Amino acid sequence: MTERCQGDTRPRTGPRARTAIVLAAAALLAATSAAFLPGTASAGTTLGASAAEKGRYFGTAVAASRLSDGNYTTILNREFNSVTPENEMKIDATEPQQGRFSYGAAEQIVNHARSRGMSVRGHTLAWHSQQPPWMESMSGSALRSAMLNHVTQVATHFRGQVVAWDVVNEAFEDGTSGARRNSNLQRTGNDWIEAAFRAARAADPGAKLCYNDYNTDNWTHAKTQAVYNMVRDFKSRGVPIDCVGFQSHFNNDSPYVSNYRTTLSSFAALGVDVQVTELDIQGAPAATYRSVVEDCLAVARCNGVTVWGIRDSDSWRASQTPLLFNSSGQKKAAYDAVLAALNNGTTPTDPPTTPPTTPPTTPPSGSCTATLQDSTRWGDRFNSQVTVSGASNWTVVVAVTPPQKVSNTWNGSPTWDSSGNVMTMRSNGSGNVFGFTTMANGTWTRPVVRSCTAS
Ligand code: XIL
Repeated sequence: MTERCQGDTRPRTGPRARTAIVLAAAALLAATSAAFLPGTASAGTTLGASAAEKGRYFGTAVAASRLSDGNYTTILNREFNSVTPENEMKIDATEPQQGRFSYGAAEQIVNHARSRGMSVRGHTLAWHSQQPPWMESMSGSALRSAMLNHVTQVATHFRGQVVAWDVVNEAFEDGTSGARRNSNLQRTGNDWIEAAFRAARAADPGAKLCYNDYNTDNWTHAKTQAVYNMVRDFKSRGVPIDCVGFQSHFNNDSPYVSNYRTTLSSFAALGVDVQVTELDIQGAPAATYRSVVEDCLAVARCNGVTVWGIRDSDSWRASQTPLLFNSSGQKKAAYDAVLAALNNGTTPTDPPTTPPTTPPTTPPSGSCTATLQDSTRWGDRFNSQVTVSGASNWTVVVAVTPPQKVSNTWNGSPTWDSSGNVMTMRSNGSGNVFGFTTMANGTWTRPVVRSCTAS
């Protein structure tokens, strides 16, 4: 199942050609069955690359103020392929005075991420906390329209740049009541959450819209069940919700529990994606980190995992040393466990279906050779792997067929043409094999390698 960007373009005839065709067909069959086997081990060496090989992302919260710290950005750029601004998209940051929007710090993070091929999770449009003083003191219909205007303005500003928004954050009470949290937003009327989702959908129809909360990890807890019931109700009434974020701040008071996987899969069964959005674990036990990642990988609709900071010193709970890198930026045991889980984890796939149907084409020659292979395929997307030979500094141009879209890449630095369909991938020191995930959007045509150039 390969296609070459360079090679002999003359037509072949005669017995040798027939032998070659038979051999190629056998190789194609072998490659097809190997490539579509669920759980094929991979050998990613960074969190983002390994997650991408499983069709997921691995993200981190980023603080704009830390982007000038070289140790921080080295780890960020090497390891992560998704970013969530830690505070810079919150209401107090983006609308410090009513009607005056301020996007500088958020844009710094968005630009840093997107220029490096990382995706952005937006956090958060409507929340009882980190409201600017003007909003904290508002109530009733004035607050309702100010909130909706905020959602509309911010989601419109970042339209097309944010893959998923935490539209509403932390709207439920802790404890056993299963009730909504009493907040100024809740007091505007119980429908404030769905109103926020509708405003967000209208402002950015391309973004996934998530409800995000904490202490919703244990399937037996009232808060988990209350959020589940809300999502089920939203789905049944057509309220535009696409995903549920599980913050997953685990500590001794709120520990990881083994029914976490049941929670993720139960929500997914409602027809929403699930995402681990703010993971940190007191003391960073490797086994617990591994379990969380394995649980996500076990649920086909779990899109990815975001840790809430890079080094322990970056954490909002630094004294709990809950992250994957120590304060000097060295990998902790939890890092190794997460990477191993990402590499070893089985890939839950839909049963293998018909592989892409376009016959291999022979693209024009370049000064190196790039061979594209199909890899894992899911119900909505598929991975491709490109092996380059003949150069270590290379530029490979790959085209996908609209309405396909590349949603993730690994082991290279991508740029796109204005259509978004033609990707120019440059070597970035990660070796000679790069990969990418294509969202099929109903079209399963194999991407085409257009050229390979050595530089
Ligand atoms: C935290 C940030 O990490 C801190 O820097 C800030 O002082 C407070 O907020 N749930 C959320 C996040 O949704 O926005 C919070 O982030 C952590 C808990």
